[in-house]
Amino acid sequence: MRRALDLAQQGRLTVHPNPRVGCVVVRPAGKGEPSRILGEGYHRRQGMPHAEREALAACVEPPQGATAYVTLEPCCHHGATPPCTEALLQAGIARVVVAVADPFPQVRGKGIELLRQHGVQVDVGLLEEDARYLNRFFFHFHTRGLPWVILKAAVSLDGKLATRTGHSQWITGEEARAHAHEIRAEVQAILAGIQTVLADDPRLTPRPASLPEAGWHPPLRVVLDPELRIPYDAQLLKTVKRAPVRIYCSREVPETLAQALRGRGAEVERTGGTAHRLNLTEVLGSLARSGVSGVLVEGGARIHTAFLEANLVNEVMVYVAPSLIGGKEAPTFYMGRGVDTIQQSMRLERLRRIHLGEDTLIQGILRWRL
Ligand SMILES: NC(=O)c1ccc[n+]([C@@H]2O[C@H](COP(=O)([O-])OP(=O)(O)OC[C@H]3O[C@@H](n4cnc5c(N)ncnc54)[C@H](OP(=O)(O)O)[C@@H]3O)[C@@H](O)[C@H]2O)c1
Repeated sequence: MRRALDLAQQGRLTVHPNPRVGCVVVRPAGKGEPSRILGEGYHRRQGMPHAEREALAACVEPPQGATAYVTLEPCCHHGATPPCTEALLQAGIARVVVAVADPFPQVRGKGIELLRQHGVQVDVGLLEEDARYLNRFFFHFHTRGLPWVILKAAVSLDGKLATRTGHSQWITGEEARAHAHEIRAEVQAILAGIQTVLADDPRLTPRPASLPEAGWHPPLRVVLDPELRIPYDAQLLKTVKRAPVRIYCSREVPETLAQALRGRGAEVERTGGTAHRLNLTEVLGSLARSGVSGVLVEGGARIHTAFLEANLVNEVMVYVAPSLIGGKEAPTFYMGRGVDTIQQSMRLERLRRIHLGEDTLIQGILRWRL
C-alpha cells in the first residue's frame, strides 16, 4: 500500500478534479514462493484510465487470483471511464485491499459491496490516515464544500514576514523558494491580500523545475482587494494571459472601477463583509464553486490572521530562515489578539520538517478533521 500511495502521488499535478489514486497488483506468497508484484499503476489525469486499470494492464502475467492494493475504494459507476470494479472482476482478482472508502456519500461502500457480492475478499483501512492525507484537498472539498486552505509564509527566526518598512524580498534562500514553487503548482488557487500586492508586486505563478506537458492548468491568482486599489501596472495584471486573476472586492465599490479591471482581463467579484475585511467564508465558497479544492494563502500578516481567526485554516507551511528582523511594527505570521495561555495555542499535527539550504520548512495540519 505504501508503494501504491507513492505511485498515486505522481498524479498530483494532473488528476484534478479527480483524486490521486495508486494501485499495486500482488501475487501473494504460496507454495514456497515469496509474494511478487505483478503490475502497478496510477491515475495519470482526468479522462485517462483509473489506477486499477493501469495496474492490471501492466501485469507481467494474468492476475487471476491475485491481490490488488488500491489507495481509494474502486469506483462502481460509469463516469469518464468504465467502472474499476468491473475491471477487477474481469481480471479474476481474488482480494482487494482498500486504504480508504470513497468520500462521496452516494457511492461510499458501493464499490466494496459489489466486489464482495461477487466473492472477492475486500479489506478496508490499511494506511487509511496516509490515504486521507494524500487526498486531503479532495476529501475536504467533497465533505465540507470548501477548498483546503494552506497558509504559507517565509519568516525570520523571530517570526517576521517583513521588516518594519515592509521589505520582504527575500527572507529565505533559493532552495526554499524553489520548493514553494513546487507547492504552488499543486493547488488550483493562490491568494494574497492587496497590501502584499502593493508591497511586493508578486506574479503568484508557479515556476517549478518542470511542469507536465498535458493535464496541468495554472492556478487562479486571487487578490482580496476591498476597494480595488490594485494598480493597473501590477505584475498580476500584466501577466493575466498566462494565468487567470480574480479580484474580490466589497459590494460598495463603484462599478466603473470593476469594469476598468475587467477590461484589463481580470475577473472582479463582489463579496460581503465589513470595511477592510471581506467575508472569507464567502470568498472560499465562491472559489469552491469554481472547482478550487486547494488554495495557497500567501499573506500578508493581516490576511493570515483573518483566516486563522475565522478558523478556516487547514494546513500551515512556514519556511523559517536563520535570521532576526526585529521591530515591533514589523508584521509577524500571526498577529491579532492571540491566546492567553500556552494550552490555548494552536498546534500542528502530522508534522514535516524539511531542510532547504540554510532554511527549514515546518509543515503541519491545523485541523485534522477530514
Ligand atoms: N514573508 C512572506 O512570506 C510574506 C508573504 C506575503 C506578504 N509579506 C509581507 O507582508 C506585508 C503585507 O501584509 P499586510 O498584513 O500589511 O497586508 P495583507 O495581509 O497583504 O493585506 C491586507 C489587506 O487585505 C484586505 N483585506 C480584505 N479582506 C480582508 C480580511 N478579511 N482581513 C484582513 N484584510 C483583508 C484589506 O485591504 P484594504 O485595506 O484595502 O481594505 C487589508 O488591508 C508586506 O510587507 C509583504 O511584503 C510577506
